[in-house]
Formats: sequence, structure tokens, C-alpha cells
Amino acid sequence: MPKPVRKAVFPVAGLGTRFLPATRAVPKELVPVLDRPVLQWVVEEAKEAGIEEFIFVTARGKEAIADHFDAHPELEQTLAARGKDDLLKAVRAAAIPAGKAIYVRQDAPKGLGHAIACAAAVVGDEPFAVLLPDMLMRAEPGCLTGMMDRYAQTGGNIIAVEEVPREEVHRYGVVALDENAPEALRITAMVEKPPVEEAPSNLIISGRYILQPDIFDHLAQTTPGAGGEIQITDAMQRALTAGAPYHAWRFTGETFDCGVKLGFLLANFAFGLADAETAPALRAYAERLLRD
Ligand code: G1P
Repeated sequence: MPKPVRKAVFPVAGLGTRFLPATRAVPKELVPVLDRPVLQWVVEEAKEAGIEEFIFVTARGKEAIADHFDAHPELEQTLAARGKDDLLKAVRAAAIPAGKAIYVRQDAPKGLGHAIACAAAVVGDEPFAVLLPDMLMRAEPGCLTGMMDRYAQTGGNIIAVEEVPREEVHRYGVVALDENAPEALRITAMVEKPPVEEAPSNLIISGRYILQPDIFDHLAQTTPGAGGEIQITDAMQRALTAGAPYHAWRFTGETFDCGVKLGFLLANFAFGLADAETAPALRAYAERLLRD
């Protein structure tokens, strides 16, 4: 049995410039999809997968994230006194148990790889998951749960991947698979934001990872890559070259890139259509728009 994955890292230090002016004072990760922040959906995905410790790589001005996952005694007392049991349950379910949420700071936006490296001391010498909160991945069971099942069989490193139209690959990390044994989904190369003509496939890195702690040694050796930033994809490619096993997990649910306006709107639309309270009116409104 491979060593269990107990910890997850959530890189939440990004400035959210694509969402200004909404993100002047509110961290982009706390912008809601339906009735909860996008980050809470992703934390729930991690909880479902059995994660016990939640490590947030944060930055100045993002203190509201820690408040969101904390207990709220006054609010809970008020809701209890008013008999609002459903809301009380929802508020309590959002919290992370005492001592299990850990916040570390990234000093400057030097890239996703640098952000993950900031969690090295807290992760220590054990495997860990990384969940990129911009990517809202909808599936039952959740993406990370599926990856955990695969990890139980293969151990090593697991990367969630999905197909996108070829003209979109330049926005993502892209993987190549071993073509001699396609069903094994063994990764043979990873490249960050390649030009379309250099992309090894149209399988992109979706934003969920299970990584072994040797990645931190490789991150320490990784120089700035695409966009002048320290890229986790480059560090993973280094580890792969050094012999570390990397397997892909094909995600077949629906992904919403909530880092951009359209993805965020689509997420709200899809989650609204799946919610008993909002679905009928939302559907009627959409049908009216299509008619007129
Ligand atoms: C990051 C990763 C990239 C991945 C993407 C998924 O890029 O570096 O490999 O495909 O997330 O959203 P970013 O979106 O931070 O530019």
C-alpha cells in the first residue's frame, strides 16, 4: 500500500487581476458559485477524498479566507436561537476543524511552483495533494476521490488530465502519454503552456495533483519558465526525467475555469440549474432569453 495522502495544498495567493474590480477587497477564491465560495467547493472535494490537513498558500490581503473556514460562534448562536437549523448546518459544514487549517504566506507572485514550494515545511516528508481553486471540477464522486483510488493501485504521482480543443492547449500544462501502453496512462513528458505546434497532445493538466515529497527538491532546482514564473510543471518534468513515476487520471466530469469571467458565469449557471431552489426560475429565464 502506498503511503496515505493526508494533506492538501491550496495555492490561493493569486492577485485575481482578471476579476478586478470585484477582487479589490474580496479574494477571488471567495467569490460565490451558487451559495458558497468557489474555494469551499474545492475544499469539500478534498474533504470527500479523505484529506485531513488543509494547507493554504496565501498572501497579503487574503485574511478573509482564514475567517471563512474558522468557527463562527456568534453567528451559530444567533442561527440556533432563531431555529434556522439548515443554515446552522451549512455554516458548521463550511468550517475546517481546529488545528487542521494551516496558512503559509507567499511573499511575491513568483509562480505556481514557487507557491507550492512555500508549503514544503508544512507538508514534510509525505505525499500530498494540490488543488487549484480556480478550477471547479464537477463530478460524483469528486475528481480527487477518483485520483485517490488510482493512487492506491499505482502509488507515485498522479495528475488529473482532460482533453481540450487543440487551439486551447497553449493556456495550460500539457502531457504526453506512453503510446505503447495507452491503458496504463503513464506520462512520458509534461510541458507548460506550449505553442500549439509544439504541444505533445491535447491532454491538459486540469488542476489536481497527487505528488511525492521529492518534488520539493526539484522545485528548489527549477528556474523561471513560462511567463517568467517558477512552474510546477517544469519541476514535475525534472522529477520524471530523474525516474519518478507519473500517471495520468482522465477526468470525465465537467470543469469550470473560474479564473476567467465566462467560466465563473457558466459555473453559476450549471450549479443553479442543479439546485432545486433556483432551477425552475433559472430554466424559465434561459428559455425566455433563447426565445426572444
Ligand atoms: C496552472 C498550471 C497549468 C494547468 C493550469 C490549470 O496554470 O501551471 O499546468 O494546466 O493551472 O488551470 P495557470 O492557470 O496558473 O496559468
